[in-house]
Amino acid sequence: MVSLLMVGAGARGTTFADWARRHPSDARVVAVADPRAVRRDRLGDVHGVPSGRRFAGWREAAEAGRVADAAVIATLDRDHLEPALALAAQGYALLIEKPLAPSEAECVTIAEACERAGVVAAVAHVLRYTPYTQLVRRLLEAGAAGEIVHVEHLEPVGFWHQAHSYVRGNWRREDETGPMLLAKCCHDLDWLAHLVGRPCTAVSSFGALTYLRPEHRPDGAADRCLDCALEPGCAWSAKRLYLGMAERGEDDWPVEVVAWPPTPANVERALLDGPYGRCVWACDNDVVDHQVVALQFGPDVTASLTMTAFTRMRERETRIFGTHGELRGDGAGVDVYDFASGRTTHHPVEEEITSRHGGGDDGVMAAFVAAAAAGDPALVPTSPAETLASHRMAFAAETARREGRVVALAG
Ligand SMILES: NC(=O)c1ccc[n+]([C@@H]2O[C@H](COP(=O)([O-])OP(=O)(O)OC[C@H]3O[C@@H](n4cnc5c(N)ncnc54)[C@H](O)[C@@H]3O)[C@@H](O)[C@H]2O)c1
Repeated sequence: MVSLLMVGAGARGTTFADWARRHPSDARVVAVADPRAVRRDRLGDVHGVPSGRRFAGWREAAEAGRVADAAVIATLDRDHLEPALALAAQGYALLIEKPLAPSEAECVTIAEACERAGVVAAVAHVLRYTPYTQLVRRLLEAGAAGEIVHVEHLEPVGFWHQAHSYVRGNWRREDETGPMLLAKCCHDLDWLAHLVGRPCTAVSSFGALTYLRPEHRPDGAADRCLDCALEPGCAWSAKRLYLGMAERGEDDWPVEVVAWPPTPANVERALLDGPYGRCVWACDNDVVDHQVVALQFGPDVTASLTMTAFTRMRERETRIFGTHGELRGDGAGVDVYDFASGRTTHHPVEEEITSRHGGGDDGVMAAFVAAAAAGDPALVPTSPAETLASHRMAFAAETARREGRVVALAG
């Protein structure tokens, strides 16, 4: 049984804590740290955390000495570094939300600190832990594609998800959370590197914030959706998204981020004066709404990654082109076309999906808790050191986009 300190009782902390509630013989939440009393107490109440183990922040938890075997760091991106260093030094096993930190230097500092402390440490690259990824891996290992020559990968962010997180929300500004590629696509870069199985050697990239900026604001649109005459016909309406959820009695992501508890009255109040009620063309966002990255792995394997806001919200889509066949995956299954036989076979994901991110939220917790119980850092596939390598692809691609050049990586 692994005891857990939850650092951050927001959306992600609550999700990971819930795994412990559903797996009581593997893990138990024994402490929680969050300055927002309403979130801290909500999580504390669900898990029966005594009042003396409910802390106003990670510093207060660290000052109490080591209160659990492991800690889950689910604060915002810029608030991973300090708790990671302090808690690694105290010997906690650490599950750190992605990205490690907004800058490369901070990521290096975290990876080195975990290595130095010798603790079990994992980064929540949830895509790696899905039954779908295991299926793709199995097919590749069985030779379905032969040798991989090229991979084409699409991250269809979804128009309302872009508006929620990257226009109105926490990841809208590069100076606060780093570039879009790091915030959203560090998963995809990690996943591509994992599938190809060779180090990335060079990247180039193009992308921009094209549409969700003030000059595209329709004539007559108000600053806030609740005041806007155009709102009923607007795809980006905050009123439809958030009040709609609240009125249906839904209390999970994304409305839980807007107000807690997300009753219609609380959500309406938040839309009147909070960030999530703003017109998408009247925000202070600066991260891209579409970007493409060309990657080279080893001497000659190539890949492309496209992220775009302008999609229906859905799972990532990937085509893997190999010497013997072509794979097309969409998160729910994989079609394999075999060159020799000319036949296509369909391979659905057969496992029951028990959590968001295609089951990856549960998958990463299960792997992390097992590694923490065994005290073996080698049991974690997404260590900070390995994550650093794929985060470096994001930083390099962002340099390539800004400077209009190809950036070589150490490989
Ligand atoms: N792995 C994934 O797929 C995935 C998905 C979404 C978000 N994330 C990452 O998860 C992290 C958390 O995101 P979120 O959506 O849960 O954010 P959130 O804002 O819902 O939660 C963050 C919580 O941290 C708390 N906090 C602030 N300062 C603190 C302190 N000093 N000590 C303890 N807690 C403190 C806040 O009060 C808040 O409740 C981010 O790094 C984000 O990028 C990962």
